[in-house]
Amino acid sequence: MRTKIVAGNWKMNKNLVETETLLTELAAKLPDTTAEVMVAPTFINLVSAKQSLDNSTIQVIAQNMHFADSGAYTGEISADMLLNVGIDTAIIGHSERRAYFGETDEILAKKVTTALAKNMRVMFCFGEELEDRKSDNHFNVVASQLKNALFSVEASEWKNIILAYEPVWAIGTGETASPEQAQEMHAFIRKTITEAYDASIANNVSILYGGSVKPANAVEIFSKPDVDGGLIGGAALKADDFVAIIKAI
Ligand code: PGA
Repeated sequence: MRTKIVAGNWKMNKNLVETETLLTELAAKLPDTTAEVMVAPTFINLVSAKQSLDNSTIQVIAQNMHFADSGAYTGEISADMLLNVGIDTAIIGHSERRAYFGETDEILAKKVTTALAKNMRVMFCFGEELEDRKSDNHFNVVASQLKNALFSVEASEWKNIILAYEPVWAIGTGETASPEQAQEMHAFIRKTITEAYDASIANNVSILYGGSVKPANAVEIFSKPDVDGGLIGGAALKADDFVAIIKAI
């Protein structure tokens, strides 16, 4: 059975002291939950975040990783480096990586391959832009993002994949997909995976929704049958908001 997940993507926010302060508050306020709770601070604070959460069930994950094992890739971080400090999950394919850092489906496919080969878990992000939705092309865009970056993955490796559907027009804009729009797309994603693999893989993969999830809309979004949790940006930066979203799951 698939698990419920609430993950906080901190993006390029929070320095060392702020990271420790937020994590201490989160660990103290964490409600009882069967959901997996994850936070993704910046690379530079991953080690201290792990230490701060030593006695907590909150998992620390990375926002990105490179596909190569090592070498002349100035400014990049490898899967082995993450594993070496106890980080076994990486967000891959966030729309900001695609839009501002030129990450194509081809690059993302390489990152996914590397992460899975290292036995890491991948939180794969994808989603359409506003133009795609306006031109009724959103299902095609999502299907091709999945096909290009994920569908050469072996069936046996899907247990290490978490999906995060994040319509680009809803990220950081305050605009949220309606619960019905999220459900419709998540059901389509499961159908697409069933066609490429089988129903058991489609039914066992956790599909998170991301894009302006906040305490006020989390309950409604999470109540949809194919929505297994959320990838939270802005609202993950305040302990009370993130805790309220965890309670909503
Ligand atoms: P947001 O970001 O919650 O601030 O819209 C979500 C994300 O980018 O993962």
